[in-house]
Formats: sequence, structure tokens, C-alpha cells
Amino acid sequence: MNPWTELGSAQIPNNGGVLKFSQRGDEFSIRLSGIRGELMNSRLYNSEKVLAELGCAHLKSVDNAQVLVGGLGMGYTLAAALKAVNEHSQVTVAELIPEVVVWNQGPLGNCAKHPLQDPRAKVHIGDVRELLKVSKPTFDAILLDVDNGPEGLTHKDNSSIYSPQGLQEIYDTLRPKGMLAVWSAGPDYLFTVRLKNAGFQADTRIVRARPGKGSRHTIFLGRKP
Ligand SMILES: C[S@@+](CC[C@H](N)C(=O)[O-])C[C@H]1O[C@@H](n2cnc3c(N)ncnc32)[C@H](O)[C@@H]1O
Repeated sequence: MNPWTELGSAQIPNNGGVLKFSQRGDEFSIRLSGIRGELMNSRLYNSEKVLAELGCAHLKSVDNAQVLVGGLGMGYTLAAALKAVNEHSQVTVAELIPEVVVWNQGPLGNCAKHPLQDPRAKVHIGDVRELLKVSKPTFDAILLDVDNGPEGLTHKDNSSIYSPQGLQEIYDTLRPKGMLAVWSAGPDYLFTVRLKNAGFQADTRIVRARPGKGSRHTIFLGRKP
């Protein structure tokens, strides 16, 4: 088997650790220092793709749909969101780590077929929370996969996104009938309660890491009435 070759590394703000980007043949991996296992692997992306399919299912026939994706990772959620909306729509992706954007503009871009080159894709380099604080309804769908789930494991500041106040901001940022979709490594009953308390109609889906096999991930859905 080919050995891994390190292609780059990036510091996460606020002493969040170091991301390491590696390649082995046509496979890519992103690891986080201090955490066992991989943060992302280019061969495991089914639930990242389904996150966008479920979150944007109501948008195919909506003209000028506005979608927010946080974060970019390996681009699979962004690519699936672009596929789910029509040609007049826009998908904004917020990515905290500038190097992740650069890696996607380079060899990593092949994995999800270069979604950043789609003219409907717009990149915000920075924290997705900056785009969740706009007070007027802006987005028809918000797709969040910035961490391991509704608790900030890889980047502790992310916990605030999923707090009651964070969910209220997301609710206010969504247009009527807008959808929030959140990726999680596992279930979290209390998060469903928080979604309902914020006014969402809440639902959860279990999705495998590969079609029909692999780890079971949870996707939380919150529809704004
Ligand atoms: C698990 S990956 C996302 C995988 C992505 N769904 C895909 O399809 O490949 C998480 C990404 O979110 C980014 N991130 C973490 N916290 C963030 C934040 N607060 N705002 C924006 N991006 C963030 C990380 O740098 C990483 O690129």
C-alpha cells in the first residue's frame, strides 16, 4: 500500500490545533492534531452529500434560492447543494481555515469535481457564525457540518452555534419554510429539544458513511414553519 504524503498543514485559530492534509494515491485525508482517527477522508462522503440533498429538497423549483454551507471540508456538501438548486441560485460556503480553500482549489478539488469553479458558488473565508448573525431572513437552507455534531469538539467556539441563542439566530436568518440541516457523528436528543424550542419543526435521519454501509451518522433537520 502507498504511504501517506503530507501536502500541507494549517493552524486552527484560538489554539484549536493543527490540521494536516495528506494524500495516498487518489485518496485524501485531513487529520486534526490530538484527535485519533481522521476528520475527513475523501472516500467517505455519503452523509455529507445527503446532508445537502435533505436540506435543499424543497429548492429545486425555487428561483434565486440562497443556500449557506458551513464549512467547505472536501467540498462534497457544497457540490451536492449546487446540484440540488437551479441555475439562478447561489450557494455561499463559509470556511474558517484559508488553507482548506487553497487545498480545494488544488488537488483536493478533483474529489467533489471542483464545486468552487461553479459560478453559483461564493466563498466566505471566515467563521460561519458571521453569516448567521444577519438579522433579516436571507437563506432558504442552511447546511452545517463544521464539527463532530452539536457540540464543538474540534473547534470549541462552534458550540455557540447550537446553543439556544445560536439556534434563534439561525431561525431569524432563514426565510419562511427555510430548512436547517446539521451533520452529526451521532444522535443527540437534547439538540432536537433545542430545535423545537427555537420554533423549528424537527426531524432526524440516520445516514451511513457509505451508501448502505459504514458508520451511522445523524442528520438533524429543522424546518421553519
Ligand atoms: C467535517 S468538515 C466539512 C466536510 C464537508 N461537509 C464536506 O462535504 O467535505 C468541517 C469543515 O468546517 C470548517 N469549520 C470548522 N468550524 C468552522 C466555522 N465556525 N466556520 C466555518 N468553517 C468552519 C473546518 O475547517 C472544516 O473544513
